[in-house]
Amino acid sequence: MRLSRYFLPVLKETPSEAQIVSHRYMLRAGMIKQASAGIYSWLPLGFKVLKNIENIVHEEQIRAGHIPMLMPTLQSADLWRESGRYDDYGAEMLRMKDRHDRDMLYGPTNEELITDIFRSHVGSYKDLPLTLYHVQWKFRDEIRPRFGVMRGREFYMKDGYNFDLTKEDALHAYNRHLVSYLRTYERMGLQAIPMRADGGPIGGDYTHEFLVLAETGESEVFYDSEITDLKFGDRAIDYDSHAECQAVLEEFTSRYARTDETHDEEIFAKVPEARRRQARGIEVGQIFYFGTKYSEPMGATVQDAEGNKVPVHMGSHGIGVSRLLGAIIEASHDDKGIIWPEGVTPFHCGIVNLKSGDAEADAACEALYASITALGLEPLYDDTNERAGGKFATMDLIGLPWRITVGPRGLKNGVVELTSRRTGESEELPPEEAVARIAAIYNKVLPGA
Ligand SMILES: Nc1ncnc2c1ncn2[C@@H]1O[C@H](COP(=O)(O)OP(=O)(O)OP(=O)(O)O)[C@@H](O)[C@H]1O
Ligand SMILES: [Mg+2]
Repeated sequence: MRLSRYFLPVLKETPSEAQIVSHRYMLRAGMIKQASAGIYSWLPLGFKVLKNIENIVHEEQIRAGHIPMLMPTLQSADLWRESGRYDDYGAEMLRMKDRHDRDMLYGPTNEELITDIFRSHVGSYKDLPLTLYHVQWKFRDEIRPRFGVMRGREFYMKDGYNFDLTKEDALHAYNRHLVSYLRTYERMGLQAIPMRADGGPIGGDYTHEFLVLAETGESEVFYDSEITDLKFGDRAIDYDSHAECQAVLEEFTSRYARTDETHDEEIFAKVPEARRRQARGIEVGQIFYFGTKYSEPMGATVQDAEGNKVPVHMGSHGIGVSRLLGAIIEASHDDKGIIWPEGVTPFHCGIVNLKSGDAEADAACEALYASITALGLEPLYDDTNERAGGKFATMDLIGLPWRITVGPRGLKNGVVELTSRRTGESEELPPEEAVARIAAIYNKVLPGA
């Protein structure tokens, strides 16, 4: 992409309505625009990151054996009357009537809809285990939408639902989700800690929330500091192995880590004092096992091996896809702007032409642009006539992790400059070597290599 042809409405002034850094930077970097309270348009740069996050979620869900699909945003109230949640859900549910006076709602979650799909099509234990998921917009009429995409009213969520014959199988599905979530967040450059949580309106005794530590987080959390040393990394995992998934669950949940809803001072006091931490966190996901809470009232049964009709054991599992943009920025920024982790960055690198219009500088930038594009990567080339200071400020604000700076003076010596956004360190090197470095960073193979 060439900046001269892109739509990047960067703001010079800090918007006064934004209270936290992620919200400020998302507005300033032209990523989102508020449409009404808690509802946003996703401008091109924000949309790109949203899609990158969504793609990682899909890849990791599919790797775990879960099946993607898509359910609608608008739902009929009838299903929610069957489960008994239509009245329970309260004012957070946006309710409406269609022209035939039928009660409709904008889905805040999808347990009822998926249970209805399941009971319509699945009748035998032989079709289990089954986990279906989708990534879809949700609406919750939050009393206090704030912090931009962190607490929106309309927000983008991955929600998945497992159907199993036995509690044991359903708990394996729970563990499988925990493992896949650990991988998902790490690929986004985040440490999200599973913490014992409260079931809320979804229900169930087994539930963990995933929290990213950040001062601006809305949840108060208590944990054993040893937990922050844990990393899933790129270890291999067999998602079909109950033992392997259970071992990961035990590794990541055996130390004390709870949100204020389940915090227990007596148990916490047993953690050595030097390791006791109280902090704030952003909830980026939650997993639940709730047994037959929906399958029983809604008649989602299968025939077991003996021919008996039994309600299926279920769980649901959510990732706050749109909230993650805010969480990543809260965890990764400096006073100049965002610092995107390579896994989610909207463009893989920036190319800054210090002297647009200079034949040699223009040609060198074009050549870099072509070589990086040929790797299957997307550079953002600032080919505008703005002065260098302004170009750097924009690149720093929008947070691309790598920048290649091209100017006539360097070119005389056969070099360009490669700068890391995270460390601020620059290195002079020939253009081909800069391309090779970018290729290596993103695990791309150079043509002819
Ligand atoms: N209003 C919202 N705006 C943006 N993301 C949200 C919002 N509500 C929930 N999410 C995200 O969706 C995920 C799954 O939804 P879940 O039902 O667990 O939310 P929740 O526990 O009600 O969230 P919260 O406690 O923050 O209101 C959450 O972990 C969170 O990341
Ligand atoms: Mg939750």
